[in-house]
Amino acid sequence: MKRLQGKNAVITGAASGVGRATSLLFAREGAAIACVDVDAQMGAETAAMVRSEGGEAVFVETDLSNPAAIERMAKTCMDWRAVIHILFNNAGVAERAQFEDITLEDWDQQVAVNLTAPFLCSQKLLPALKAANGGAIVNHGSIDGVLGNPTLVAYSASKGGLQPLTHVMGFWLARHDIRVNCINSGALRESKEGIPVRLNRDNLAGAPMSAEQLRATPMARPGFVEEAADVALYLASDQSSYVNGSVITLDGGRTAITPGTF
Ligand SMILES: NC(=O)c1ccc[n+]([C@@H]2O[C@H](COP(=O)([O-])OP(=O)(O)OC[C@H]3O[C@@H](n4cnc5c(N)ncnc54)[C@H](O)[C@@H]3O)[C@@H](O)[C@H]2O)c1
Repeated sequence: MKRLQGKNAVITGAASGVGRATSLLFAREGAAIACVDVDAQMGAETAAMVRSEGGEAVFVETDLSNPAAIERMAKTCMDWRAVIHILFNNAGVAERAQFEDITLEDWDQQVAVNLTAPFLCSQKLLPALKAANGGAIVNHGSIDGVLGNPTLVAYSASKGGLQPLTHVMGFWLARHDIRVNCINSGALRESKEGIPVRLNRDNLAGAPMSAEQLRATPMARPGFVEEAADVALYLASDQSSYVNGSVITLDGGRTAITPGTF
């Protein structure tokens, strides 16, 4: 039995990494997918990959840092399907800089994509999510949003906002039978299916975990983007029907231990 049979899902950041892995997984589980991304070439490629496996997918080109573009995306998706069962707010950007060197432009971009867009996408797609009579929103946070990563200041701050946003959305949307949860991922650096993982403009090909990061991770390996897709599937499906307002940490145990104690 497919776990998302007959459901419609909107997945942001679908052009690569976790978004591509989740688009493929959700489609294999029976969902029709609206793949949303600013990257037209790779976003359309994800939708084509889903279709080539016999799934159903459309690509909706959207710059999620632009509120007007989010409104247009929501309208396009709701014209595509009047009922949306799943929204995965997955798109993200991470730019490294020393605190003193961060430009307002870079700060604004990361807050817009990582925090404002999940809020706005959820709000603008709400009519179709309400119509699902059992909707699920999944936000993609980060372990950097809990303690703060000194090399990713704006990223940490914006991902930090996602956690309380998840809690309060879980409160407000429960009355509409919509559950809201968040995945706080650690380093997802690899793909079992050869999917590229990018995350910032200087890192188009992805970067391996450093020796220091590996040492700090009890499981001593990076996460696969497919492992994040598996958690998203759990949170999007009826298997998590009583999970709401929650945050699941996906980091190989890295934040489960007190730093500097071993
Ligand atoms: N890879 C990791 O180590 C890691 C760790 C923790 C959290 N995450 C989170 O996972 C999510 C997915 O990231 P990923 O690792 O798959 O990286 P990725 O770069 O492969 O995917 C992110 C996607 O977001 C899209 N995107 C960026 N800016 C956009 C915009 N303005 N409008 C629309 N789309 C935009 C990109 O084009 C890209 O396709 C992100 O929210 C990220 O913060 C990743």
